[in-house]
Amino acid sequence: MTIRAVVAGIGHYLPQNIVTNADLEKIVDTSDEWIKSRSGIERRHFVAKGETTSDLAAAAARAALLDANLSAGDIDAIVLATSTADLTFPSAATMVQAKIGMRQGFAFDVQAVCAGFIYALSTANALILSGQAKRVLVIGAESFSKLMDWQDRTTSVLFGDGAGALVLEAEETATGTNKDRGILATDLHSDGQFSDLLYVDGGTSTGTTGFLRMQGKEVFRHAVEKLAQTAHAALEKAGFGANDVDWIVPHQANLRIISATAQRMGVEMERVVVTVQDHGNTSAASIPLALSVGVARGQIKRGDLLVTEAIGGGLAWGAVVLRW
Ligand code: UT7
Repeated sequence: MTIRAVVAGIGHYLPQNIVTNADLEKIVDTSDEWIKSRSGIERRHFVAKGETTSDLAAAAARAALLDANLSAGDIDAIVLATSTADLTFPSAATMVQAKIGMRQGFAFDVQAVCAGFIYALSTANALILSGQAKRVLVIGAESFSKLMDWQDRTTSVLFGDGAGALVLEAEETATGTNKDRGILATDLHSDGQFSDLLYVDGGTSTGTTGFLRMQGKEVFRHAVEKLAQTAHAALEKAGFGANDVDWIVPHQANLRIISATAQRMGVEMERVVVTVQDHGNTSAASIPLALSVGVARGQIKRGDLLVTEAIGGGLAWGAVVLRW
């Protein structure tokens, strides 16, 4: 008998305010044509004034609980991936805990920027496999619009806000093989020598929130190389090759990175979930958003084999293989 962390429900939330590329043309020296051709992004959602990351996360968490037919009282832990918590502390996760009416268990944030949801999934999986929790709400939520420097056209047109959440549940499996549902392998990496490629120039050292700074071309180069590597490594740990995969669910930063990674893996785009056109880069929220939208579209079905991968500031990157 083996314990697996299995997805019991999923949901997402996007702020109401949709900002198109044409809207951005009015405030940034850019064009719809440039944004679409360089990144694949057509629109993104921005939080309203007063709306915070924990609001988005709580809405996504409620949707995931509803989908799982569970209530806040059934959850042992919240692991929330974010780089845009409402305050420096307490964690956004504890704010979500209060907002959804969860009075038991524990909650904390994971900060690995765009790779955050991969790190959070891996952490939640470890909590379940070690017996510390039976049901974990794993959330990715961000308000990256708050970190944009509107004088910098190379970054400000790329990011968006949103949240996705899933419930991971301990399940006893009879087989203990890679035919099981649930998380089958994880692969995590970081390399701090590349911290200057993608960072926010604020924090306790400056006394400001700061703005996102990125050397786009360099990040692009690392992304294409490292994402295919980590996806292959996670698949290998689970005893699979790229041909076995039903869906790649990649971090949604740039359509060119998504397709170059799929190409390196030898997987055609028909087997890749793509949402970047509608959400922009929502950092740690992008993968749970893509999972939730992929399920809602009828692409991802129970029993499908998924590999999900992401890279971001740190640099931090990784992949998770799971059977839906
Ligand atoms: O989620 C974390 C991971 N992040 C990423 O994965 C992002 C990785 N990087 C990228 O996605 C791409 O590098 C970008 C989309 C950021 C940029 O694409 P690129 O093909 O690398 O363009 P570039 O930076 O080389 O810029 C090309 C040209 C430049 O003009 P010149 O110097 O060739 O005359 C830029 O000034 O495009 C210009 N440009 C713009 N033009 C119109 C840069 N930003 C804009 C803009 N609108 N918004």
